[in-house]
Amino acid sequence: MLRPCGIKGQKRKKREERYDKEEDEVEAEEQSIEKAKRAMVEEKEMAMETSGKEEEELEGQTHEMAGIPIVPSDLKTKKPGLIFVLERASLEVAKVGKSYQILNSDDHANFLRKNNKNPADYRPDIVYQALLSILDSPVNKAGRLRAVYVKTDKGVLFEVKPHVRIPRTYKRFAGIMLQLLQKLSITAVGKREKLLRVIKNPVTQYLPVNSRKIGFSYSSEKLVKMNKYVAAVSDDVDIVFVVGAMAHGKIDCDYIDDFIAISGYPLSAAWCISRICEAVADKWDVL
Ligand SMILES: C[S@@+](CC[C@H](N)C(=O)[O-])C[C@H]1O[C@@H](n2cnc3c(N)ncnc32)[C@H](O)[C@@H]1O
Repeated sequence: MLRPCGIKGQKRKKREERYDKEEDEVEAEEQSIEKAKRAMVEEKEMAMETSGKEEEELEGQTHEMAGIPIVPSDLKTKKPGLIFVLERASLEVAKVGKSYQILNSDDHANFLRKNNKNPADYRPDIVYQALLSILDSPVNKAGRLRAVYVKTDKGVLFEVKPHVRIPRTYKRFAGIMLQLLQKLSITAVGKREKLLRVIKNPVTQYLPVNSRKIGFSYSSEKLVKMNKYVAAVSDDVDIVFVVGAMAHGKIDCDYIDDFIAISGYPLSAAWCISRICEAVADKWDVL
């Protein structure tokens, strides 16, 4: 659900009123992609080369390039919450032909092979599905999701606010990711709140001190029943779930308290997250 935020006054208001109309979405998507393309040509640089210095310089600025509507959720409570960290997300920007794009194995297989890269490693759809699974979950709608952090394969870390409504199609999602990695933040429609923003590593500085950090891998020797496992976690702590958003390999994090497998089968990240969210919803009586 994208729309350029550069439109001021009445125009912007009218657009906000009609924001969920399909035609608007398409038009807005085209406009924001056009705008992003122009920005890309002007900048003439790879988004993934963004340095910490640039991040500091851009701190406090609002890039009203595009906005995402906000999903209403129950008011935040003092009750413990959950946080997701998606590790090794494949979100890499490159100039393909005349435009910058998020690389994926379907559209850029030849480009990737020419550049001696394995197309199978370029799977931004995994993080897309993972984010949909997290943000559409009942535990998020109940206001218990505190934050989502995504770390890309190239080491860029960004935060996704729980009330963001992720675009419903991959194409629009890729457009938003492109803007985020180039402009470092995406703001809410008509507001100055940054719904997605690139932040400094390491992710541990944003995690509550008194939280339980649980990592997930099919290859972990500790195979658990997720409902039972989550039920045993103290009711007083926030729970951090660390899931891989890559096609192959294992997450490798030094900040995890426990490393578990939740099925005897290799699951997609989205399925793994669904199982986590359902177990947490069960523990916290979220229906
Ligand atoms: C597409 S999988 C990555 C495949 C990778 N070979 C692996 O199993 O780690 C994405 C993520 O889902 C999680 N996952 C998949 N199957 C799992 C299982 N049976 N138990 C726990 N986590 C799992 C892991 O965090 C994994 O990194």
